[in-house]
Amino acid sequence: MVEDFQVDGDKISFSIVLNSQDASMKNALFMTCQETLQHEYPEAQIHLHLKMTSDQAGTGDSVLPQVKNIIAVASGKGGVGKSTVSVNLAVALAKKGLKVGLIDADLYGPSIPTMMGLVGNRPKIELLYGKHKIVPLEAYGVHVISVGFIVDPEQAVVLRGPRLGGLLRQFIQDCLWPELDYLIIDLPPGTGDVQLTLVQTIPVTGAFIVTTPQEVAVVDAVKAMNMFLLPNVQVPILGVIENMSWFTPEELPGHKYYLFGKGGGQRLAEMSESRLLGQLPLVQSVQQSGDEGVPAAVHADSIMGQVFAQLATEVEQAVEYRNEHFQPTRIVKVES
Ligand SMILES: Nc1ncnc2c1ncn2[C@@H]1O[C@H](COP(=O)(O)OP(=O)(O)OP(=O)(O)O)[C@@H](O)[C@H]1O
Ligand SMILES: [Mg+2]
Repeated sequence: MVEDFQVDGDKISFSIVLNSQDASMKNALFMTCQETLQHEYPEAQIHLHLKMTSDQAGTGDSVLPQVKNIIAVASGKGGVGKSTVSVNLAVALAKKGLKVGLIDADLYGPSIPTMMGLVGNRPKIELLYGKHKIVPLEAYGVHVISVGFIVDPEQAVVLRGPRLGGLLRQFIQDCLWPELDYLIIDLPPGTGDVQLTLVQTIPVTGAFIVTTPQEVAVVDAVKAMNMFLLPNVQVPILGVIENMSWFTPEELPGHKYYLFGKGGGQRLAEMSESRLLGQLPLVQSVQQSGDEGVPAAVHADSIMGQVFAQLATEVEQAVEYRNEHFQPTRIVKVES
């Protein structure tokens, strides 16, 4: 069962190959190995990796073996707050001590550079084993890449389908991503080339769907959701995030005005057999902080900071549940 055994100074690393998905058995084995080794070699840093035989039988999907979870943030309609959710979720997870990366896959209208306060920055290029690699930028503890760092936003508009796919593949394969707990992918709205390239390039752990509460947004969100659920795609929907659920004026924090109706997020969650993970109010400070490049989640003790921290906890739990109960996702193979 033991593979890839390596000792390098104080570092001991190896894999255990299991043919069972049983979570309690995995945990027991993991703990026993850790304890036994740590007892014998108190100084050692132990890196133990549990592999499923089903991983191996799979398609050799280890494009980003250093990334534990690849999370897509999707929606049907534009402007419902995917980028706002992606950015604040990334910052809130990083604040909890997790290692987080963020890919701005909205290649036509990249908004992450503005929201992360990184406008005008250019990523470094490093030569690694004879290949050029892009080094993601860093803000608020999150590693970020966006087409906005590479071309001007006006230029991005003229990019065409196949080139878009190529760019996203480069962000995944040609970036020097460090070890990450979460790599969050902020998608453009709908179901297009970018979504297709994504599921063909990496095994996406799961998707979160962002919607506003009204019926028209829900109808479009169902289409976006169904793309992930196609029999040859099978990316699980891990939850629904309802944004702009109600409006709360800054000066009347106790008031809720349901500008866009009610219940859309809940309905979508039922349709996808997932959960409504959070309802985010429409508050002016969220928009302002996005434009100013200081995401609301940065201020952890503010009201919105707490809302995003809570959302991060829900997301973590949804991902954990998925990993314990479902098989790893496989990359979609296209037959041509
Ligand atoms: N909860 C909120 N309260 C106030 N403003 C918000 C909220 N969520 C999003 N916004 C604002 O709404 C606008 C659209 O949000 P955002 O860019 O995140 O949407 P999107 O779904 O990523 O859009 P696109 O489809 O264009 O990528 C932004 O100006 C953002 O600041
Ligand atoms: Mg966006």
